[in-house]
Amino acid sequence: MKSAHIPLLFASLASAHSAVSSVIFDGTRYPARDARMDRDFNARRIEWNFKDMNGFPWLAVNDVQDPAITCGLSPTPPELTAVARAGSEVTVQWSGIIQMHYGPVLTYLGKWEPGMTPQEVNFFKIKGNGFDTAQKKWANEELIDTHTADTMKIPSDIPPGTYILRTELLALHGNTLSSTPVAGGGPQFYTHCFNVNITSNGTATPSPTVRFPGGYKREDPGVAYAPMRNRNTWSEYIVPGPAVYKGVYGTPVGERKVVELKDTGAFPPEVEKEYEQFKKDNDAWAAKTHTWFNKIDPHGNGGADAPKSDAEPAAQFIAEHLKEGEALKVRQKELKAKMVKLGIANP
Ligand SMILES: *[C@@H]1O[C@H](CO)[C@@H](O)[C@H](O)[C@H]1NC(C)=O
Ligand SMILES: *[C@@H]1O[C@H](CO)[C@@H](O)[C@H](O)[C@H]1NC(C)=O
Repeated sequence: MKSAHIPLLFASLASAHSAVSSVIFDGTRYPARDARMDRDFNARRIEWNFKDMNGFPWLAVNDVQDPAITCGLSPTPPELTAVARAGSEVTVQWSGIIQMHYGPVLTYLGKWEPGMTPQEVNFFKIKGNGFDTAQKKWANEELIDTHTADTMKIPSDIPPGTYILRTELLALHGNTLSSTPVAGGGPQFYTHCFNVNITSNGTATPSPTVRFPGGYKREDPGVAYAPMRNRNTWSEYIVPGPAVYKGVYGTPVGERKVVELKDTGAFPPEVEKEYEQFKKDNDAWAAKTHTWFNKIDPHGNGGADAPKSDAEPAAQFIAEHLKEGEALKVRQKELKAKMVKLGIANP
């Protein structure tokens, strides 16, 4: 196989990847927006709405100057807001994490008032892992080890109010896949934004803060770094953006608020079950692409090396994969029909 064909082929098969499936704020799980069908279903979520880029729901932003780096393309506020006590834990549940998408995983908070655009928000960092020298793993690889769950604490000293939690996975493998430029190269920013009402008696002014775009420069070492070309310097990798807010990360005060299921954005239980199973199967289907791709391009260099001996031939893999994809589409249609009937989806 000619190496130049691989990125194109991969793009055509790309499905849910580097996506967030849910966020647990202060013990309550809130479903994330699922770009492949939530718009269609008229789902109410805590995640900001965004538009598909070039028709793909999960396309990464490649340029730090792109306004879509903040909260996706043409973001609009979410219908719901999570609640959390300052000092409580938050877990971002990612899905479709690809091992060769080497890079950092970062999370920011920023105070938001109705009417503000995400670009006007001053964000401070609450977590930012790059390359773990002890584990010899990138933050995205560590996500795979923790069943793609990223847990951190909300500072206990920040003032009350509505905040945007902005989480970001920065995949660096495209910075130089091979010695020649490839289509779709460059850094890949996968960002997701969620609204959360934080209760607190805090009065601190968190710093340092940044805005997006603006928080990163194209030439930042943590943005321009090419892990495929610098395998012996991974331990020197510098995470981009400001330092993590030092602040106080104490225990939460007061009772945890119990949130009704409908206020989390989840569908009625029996529909939610079917919807979650569908997403799981869809993600498993997508993961097969990644497994296969890792076999035909084992060293992430655009296929310059020989594929692994047990790699399924491309024609065979694609035919089977498309057939399974069609079956999933039929299931999605059936699920939608059910939801329309219940009055929770747009016809
Ligand atoms: C956040 O929650 C508190 C406690 O329920 C409430 O008093 C406050 O009005 C809420 N703030 C916003 C901005 O929604
Ligand atoms: C705020 O302070 C009051 C009075 O000291 C206390 O009763 C309350 O639990 C505190 N709330 C939070 C969220 O820290």
